[in-house]
Amino acid sequence: MSNRREFIKKASGIGLASIGAGTLTACSVLEGEKSVSTNAGLNLPNGIVFTRENPGMWAKKVGGHAPVVTVNGTKIKIETQHGMSKKHFIVRHTIVTPNGEVIASKTFSPDDLEAVSEYEITTNHKTLYATSFCNKHDMWVEKFSV
Ligand SMILES: [Fe+2]
Repeated sequence: MSNRREFIKKASGIGLASIGAGTLTACSVLEGEKSVSTNAGLNLPNGIVFTRENPGMWAKKVGGHAPVVTVNGTKIKIETQHGMSKKHFIVRHTIVTPNGEVIASKTFSPDDLEAVSEYEITTNHKTLYATSFCNKHDMWVEKFSV
């Protein structure tokens, strides 16, 4: 992996397909929507992307890392109940479609007071994924409906 940005980009796509499965079975977890071809057929180990249901080695970190999503019509709010400091902070939130397209994102600074992002989204997708990336505790994904 050449840099963190590349990792986050790849992990965002990986996360979509690994939710709840532990391995990449993209088509089975994407509710009938096609996965991007780069994800199809990959078989990933646990411990790359984490969810509330599959927190792996971060089982004690769920409350502060799994993104909480609130949907109100076309307005979507993502909150990560995590402190923000120069050494330990939430780096980024994204909203990703089942085919891996990032349709919204916010990159945080350690100087931000909280890891909260709000978006106005119009999409034909019924299911979306919110990601939250901690600089120490990796990528977390939450599936939600709109
Ligand atoms: Fe953390």
